[in-house]
Amino acid sequence: MRKVFLFIALAAMIGTGCKHENTPQPSGAPTPTPNPGPNPNPNPNPTSVDTVLCFQRDILPIFLSNCAMSGCHDAVSKQDGFQFTDYNSIVSKEFVSGNANETELFEKITEDNDDKRMPPPPRPGLTATQIALIKRWINEGAKNTTCSSGCDSTNFKYSSAIKPLTEQYCRGCHNSAAASGGIMLDSYDGVKTVALNGRMLGAIKHLTGYQAMPQGGSKLSDCQILQVEKWIAAGAQNN
Ligand code: HEC
Repeated sequence: MRKVFLFIALAAMIGTGCKHENTPQPSGAPTPTPNPGPNPNPNPNPTSVDTVLCFQRDILPIFLSNCAMSGCHDAVSKQDGFQFTDYNSIVSKEFVSGNANETELFEKITEDNDDKRMPPPPRPGLTATQIALIKRWINEGAKNTTCSSGCDSTNFKYSSAIKPLTEQYCRGCHNSAAASGGIMLDSYDGVKTVALNGRMLGAIKHLTGYQAMPQGGSKLSDCQILQVEKWIAAGAQNN
């Protein structure tokens, strides 16, 4: 299996930008073969990522928090012409629906060569789970789907609710290599700090006086915010 890894992001605030090597030439974009791979699963009542993949819920947040930062692939910077801010921009360039291996962005996130991988070092790469989700989404036809959040507000443990949430929505901008606002959310200690000093809730609830988070993305759902609130109220434990 190919080593996996990183996508870009930012340095936005430092302004060093996300320039990276020229991407391999478009190699005459192979004809999109609509080969929807394993059928997206007709389950009309999706509740989990294991059964149904939804672009808006499962895929877009990964792009927003790892690629769409200012200086990288937002609508203004568009490094190398790639913009990853919404469905249309993501599927618009060197993108082959139904075939992840022929899709440029997938090659970049699974690039073995550190100099070419995205997000570029020293940013962390996408997690194996995130890469698997993107691969499956592309291979299943890269549809712009929406579905229920699958969020369960009675689950507010760090390991099964808070950690996955910060990994999906926050980690790309808040990690040890790129700590936006000096905040790191790629470890329990980092999350605990902003949980207990009130910044996390202020930011995700879009309260006055706080920067609204996740930056550039939609507000988290009420259920997700409730999970964070309950976890903090119970002591923000590493449980
Ligand atoms: C696209 C990049 C990006 C994403 C995604 C992102 N942040 Fe941020 N965040 C920033 C930047 C940049 C700042 C610093 C803003 C400033 O200081 O002007 C910041 C600041 C913050 C702050 C400090 C806010 C304040 O007013 O004190 C908190 C807390 C925070 N982020 C939490 C989060 C959480 C939680 C998530 C995920 C749900 C998240 N961020 C997702 C870029 C991001």
